[in-house]
Amino acid sequence: MKFTSTFLAATAAFVASALAGASATPLTTRTVFTPPVTYPHAGTVWFSGQTHNVTWDTSDAPSQITNKLGRIFLRKAGITTPLILAENFDILLGRIEVEVPLVLEGTDYQLNLFGDSGNFSPEFTIQGSGI
Ligand SMILES: *[C@@H]1O[C@H](CO)[C@@H](O)[C@H](O)[C@H]1NC(C)=O
Repeated sequence: MKFTSTFLAATAAFVASALAGASATPLTTRTVFTPPVTYPHAGTVWFSGQTHNVTWDTSDAPSQITNKLGRIFLRKAGITTPLILAENFDILLGRIEVEVPLVLEGTDYQLNLFGDSGNFSPEFTIQGSGI
């Protein structure tokens, strides 16, 4: 009987610690979500003044997202500019219409899609501004 009571005590301690561990786990787990941009992609050419759907892949979206609101900045030559193409949209939409701004022509543009943290598109081209 001595073995049995020791076994029961150990089992009770294990169950108690398991329950304590479970109750310490937050009910909602917030997860950083940085979806990859799927359009524009390498080889894309946009003209100033055009409207395009920027698209991104939401298939890996977790159920809880820290920041559901998206924002898209324009990048050039590896630097994120202050130019915002779209903001305050639902990051789970997977697409948002943007107007191509009047900027210097160049082949080294990227988008920086922000949800929780930034995600860069591949480099693409903006033409037709006449600048
Ligand atoms: C963007 O996508 C929506 C939904 O597919 C479509 O209705 C709209 O015409 C698209 N806009 C452009 C500029 O292609």
